[in-house]
Amino acid sequence: MNGEKIKSILQSKPTGQQCSAQGWVRTFRANRFIALNDGSTIENLQCVVDFEQLDESVLKQITTGAALHLQGELVESQGSGQKVELQVEEITVLGSSDPESYPIQPKKHSLEFLREKAHLRVRTATFSAVMRVRSALSFAVHQFFQDEGFFYVNTPIVTGSDAEGAGEMFRVSTLDPKNPPLNEEGNTDFKQDFFGKETNLTVSGQLEAEAYALALGDVYTFGPTFRAENSNTTRHLAEFWMIEPEMAFYDLNDNMDLAEKFITSVLRHVLKACEKDLKFLDERFAKEESSKPQLQRSSMGLLEKIEFVVHNDFKRLTYTEAIEILKNSKPNKKKKFQYPVNEWGIDLQSEHERYLVEKHFNCPVILYDYPANIKAFYMRRNEDGKTVRAMDILFPGIGEIVGGSQREERLEVLEERIKEMNIDAEELWWYLDLRRFGSVPHSGFGLGFERLVQFTTGMGNIRDVIPFPRTPQNAAF
Ligand code: 4AD
Ligand code: MG
Repeated sequence: MNGEKIKSILQSKPTGQQCSAQGWVRTFRANRFIALNDGSTIENLQCVVDFEQLDESVLKQITTGAALHLQGELVESQGSGQKVELQVEEITVLGSSDPESYPIQPKKHSLEFLREKAHLRVRTATFSAVMRVRSALSFAVHQFFQDEGFFYVNTPIVTGSDAEGAGEMFRVSTLDPKNPPLNEEGNTDFKQDFFGKETNLTVSGQLEAEAYALALGDVYTFGPTFRAENSNTTRHLAEFWMIEPEMAFYDLNDNMDLAEKFITSVLRHVLKACEKDLKFLDERFAKEESSKPQLQRSSMGLLEKIEFVVHNDFKRLTYTEAIEILKNSKPNKKKKFQYPVNEWGIDLQSEHERYLVEKHFNCPVILYDYPANIKAFYMRRNEDGKTVRAMDILFPGIGEIVGGSQREERLEVLEERIKEMNIDAEELWWYLDLRRFGSVPHSGFGLGFERLVQFTTGMGNIRDVIPFPRTPQNAAF
């Protein structure tokens, strides 16, 4: 039953040897040519059938979307476009497919349409290429950290602390929503809930990763995270995957060095491992771009962008320097920004980040030393008293891809900050313990995996780089 993968069939030398393949019909032309794809590669295997020898009932079942097992001779192809073809001698229809109702017809479908068919869209060339690249990127992430001596840790998905403050959280509860038990004050009594307290889905594994870094040295997490923000943008998901390395004895510069090395290393890996998929996605990207108005087009092709990031240093500058550039920029002076930049301390909007990356520097940018007031409580305070050792990496076409910092390792400074920000210190007792017992300077960052997949595949919408996207009002499948 088990035939060879089409990827390896296409690499073998055709000498008329017996060969069997299985997969799904992409197209069937002239009652003669089946383009078969099994997902192992972007390329199809051309299979040639002699319809005169075929049973009418079998012929009728060779339709787009049907699953077939084919057996025959592998020969050099007569036609142009492929080197080998399978001269079919035996056909088994594993699963027929009604051509009238099969949604994935051999024509161009809009990405919006395909999102509604998320269970079948991976049978298209575009989505299968994206998902293979996604898989290769995951592998490269683990390979990079393992090669660097990091340990992979699995931080909890259900969390009892909401101190990170990275965003709105999803509640996890087994209480009856129609009839929850009430406490003396008349509020829901979470003491009677499954965990005996309020629990949520995690927004980040960082705080727990810090505990592990302060024992194992260098660690990383790679898992799902959840944010209940109502952001309907092309860069936000309610459920996304994040990679969070955390390193003992690292300062902010070491952190930035590692982040840059990490990103270029995984990109280098996929350039090699996914050559054919990326070539296909590069052509797709070029077509998409050419249909946009001139001013909105990317100045580089997809492969060109990836190569550029791999071969050029990221530009590093402080938040304060960035504000100066933005203040004096043309769009700011001409009041073209929706959010004008006129004072130090404002949170940067994506229009500002994009200006810096896409117009001013034209390369990835690392911004660091942000105002304390717009960043999380755990970031290390600088001597100036107003800024913290934060860093964000901004990418062309994506905006923020990494957020990280050196962590505040001084107990008193951290406690003060927690008070200033009105955070419940009791909940953070264990986190503060880490500063009581053998605290050391340490740093880490979080990279949004889907944003990395977006950058690598050139897909404009983050919903198209994760198998079954979760966004506001959408958890189908
Ligand atoms: O900047 P964020 O919120 O940082 C943290 O969560 C830190 N605890 C990370 C750390 O230092 N260990 O998120 C990190 C990255 C962002 O830069 C972005 O790439 C991605 O996660 N991200 C999202 N991706 C998709 N959908 C969302 N809603 C995202 N929110 C953040
Ligand atoms: Mg951030």
